[in-house]
Amino acid sequence: MLLPKKGNASTPIEVQRKQLPIYQAKAQLLNQLRQLQNAIIIGETGSGKTTQIPQYLYEAGIGRLGLVAITQPRRVAAISLAGRVAEEKRTQIGKLVGYTVRFEDVTSSETKLKFMTDGMLLREAIGDPLLLKYTVVVLDEAHERTVHTDVLFGVVKTAQRRRRELNKVPLKVIVMSATMDVDLFSEYFNKSPVLYLEGRQHPIQIYYTKQQQSDYLQAALVSIFQIHQEAPPAHDILVFMTGQEEIEALARTCRDISKHVPDGCGSMVVLPLYASLPPAQQLRVFQPAPKGCRKVILSTNIAETSVTISGIKYVIDTGMVKAKRFNPDSGLEVLAVQRVSKAQAWQRAGRAGREESGFCYRLYTEQEFDNFLPMTVPEIQRCNLAGVMLQLMALGIPDVMNFDFMSKPSPDAVRSAVDHLELLGAVERREGPVFLTPLGKKMASFPLEPRYAKTILLSPEYSCSEEILSIVSLLSVDTVLYNPPARRDDVLAARKKFTSSEGDHMTLLNIYRAFKKVSGNKEWCRENFVNSRNMGLVKDVQAQLRDICLKLNLKLESCGSDTSSVRRCLAHGMFLNAAELQLDGSYVALDTHQPVTIHPSSVLFQAKPAYVIFNELLHTSRCYMRDLCLVDADWLLEAAPEYFGRKLHLSKT
Ligand code: CDP
Ligand code: MG
Repeated sequence: MLLPKKGNASTPIEVQRKQLPIYQAKAQLLNQLRQLQNAIIIGETGSGKTTQIPQYLYEAGIGRLGLVAITQPRRVAAISLAGRVAEEKRTQIGKLVGYTVRFEDVTSSETKLKFMTDGMLLREAIGDPLLLKYTVVVLDEAHERTVHTDVLFGVVKTAQRRRRELNKVPLKVIVMSATMDVDLFSEYFNKSPVLYLEGRQHPIQIYYTKQQQSDYLQAALVSIFQIHQEAPPAHDILVFMTGQEEIEALARTCRDISKHVPDGCGSMVVLPLYASLPPAQQLRVFQPAPKGCRKVILSTNIAETSVTISGIKYVIDTGMVKAKRFNPDSGLEVLAVQRVSKAQAWQRAGRAGREESGFCYRLYTEQEFDNFLPMTVPEIQRCNLAGVMLQLMALGIPDVMNFDFMSKPSPDAVRSAVDHLELLGAVERREGPVFLTPLGKKMASFPLEPRYAKTILLSPEYSCSEEILSIVSLLSVDTVLYNPPARRDDVLAARKKFTSSEGDHMTLLNIYRAFKKVSGNKEWCRENFVNSRNMGLVKDVQAQLRDICLKLNLKLESCGSDTSSVRRCLAHGMFLNAAELQLDGSYVALDTHQPVTIHPSSVLFQAKPAYVIFNELLHTSRCYMRDLCLVDADWLLEAAPEYFGRKLHLSKT
């Protein structure tokens, strides 16, 4: 992702390409790729797999009869890699080289190399299960095992076989990974050969803590300043942490402390890195620090494999990551801070040895490390599968329960997903087999989670489609609010005029309405701490969702100032995410009776209404609900009488 392109501005791009480790292997690689229908390529991050292999294929005329798709788990990665390859090819983006991510398509009839998110290729497969447009599919960053990549494995394998049977142009499938554990991939693709790229990896010295750390943030802070006092300033530090909030908080503390370190110790620049950071700030991590100044980058796991940052000599690994976790018994998916796997820990350490030997400080003991899981559990085994199941059914996969998954999700998780879809009215069980209902078919036309799709489809009944489309669009992009911690009071003051006592959805809607009223004026955005780029994206998303609605003949109306119909519609679409206030002031999620609490960032944090619906759960020290909307108990009952007949026994009303 992200463009470290000016890192080596003096070296012409052609020369840079030839200096990549992969260049040495080019001829041999092409020889093999020409013959093989399936190949697995392993190479260290930064060896040139993603940017070079598509170009090599194109230059050698392999797969010229169609397009080459290169899938990425992250949308930012797809966009910036396409940009880089277009630059190397000296063409404008969207011509020979393009990209397609959710809600954004920058391709044309000339496009031959198409970078895309794994989710987008999956959506294309719904309209074209044989993927006939493509002659080569490169499944990149396969080690990440996102749920979409995992489903794609099955989809491309089937497409490959069917095309052979039907005598169509063959489909070549290339799987690329930055880690060595590829036996499973090879086994799955009919024992396909594994090609290893010589990497540039220098020795790394690993240190563990002697004792367990109760506070990894404190431990990280101490390590940063220990290194800062001892190491020469040209040696940069990369710290792996879990998310935006703790990164911003630690960044602030580091900046404060660095003003008071002894002379002779040099200065430091502290740079956060996480997916929702505005692009201009993301780019700063790639620029060299001023002379005599040390770069300290505080990053999420985005820097594990997706980015290559030069100058890193020290890695500090908290051993923690924020990831999805799913409990099929309770049907609840949460984002939780948890231990990384050994594979991830090694990948993190590796970031210190890109250019010369380096050091990795692990903020956990060696015994703790021994107990880490060897591999990260694939996402498909730890997420709510409702969306995937809906897509598979829309793909016409006859027996979803027995789909050829590389790693099968548990039968409980599959059952729970089907229950979820049944509650939403998307599927029907007829004596065993599961069928998509007409509503389910419509839901699958939206590139959205099933409950959002359902809410949109319900909205004409409440005459508030315009508002619901706005809200869903607002929730579909990275946050539109900009919260610089240093200006907390200003932010609060600016937000006040939009704050709605009805909750976060309505507050966002107010901000969006105001944004449109001033036609997206940049100055207004700055004054109100609104991310104008993401807001612009919201408009695009909304336009696309509206197109889908029009194709489905939905009536699009606005309810004007009658916001209760909007909340009512949300209650009906999102009833599976409802929570109820208890006598002691705590909340329980109605679906599971799990204790939950309102996230401090919510406008309802103080208000504590009796019933709310929430968008997601975040599990850190407690299980927090984020993005809430005030609803009536009656609406929930109306939405799913039978279901709540069972659940609402907690209700005191
Ligand atoms: O895929 P892999 O990690 O093997 O490497 P890559 O993404 O093809 O990147 C190879 C090199 O291209 C990196 O080390 C960067 O120097 C450069 N690159 C870049 O300048 N801008 C990008 N957006 C991506 C890569
Ligand atoms: Mg890559």
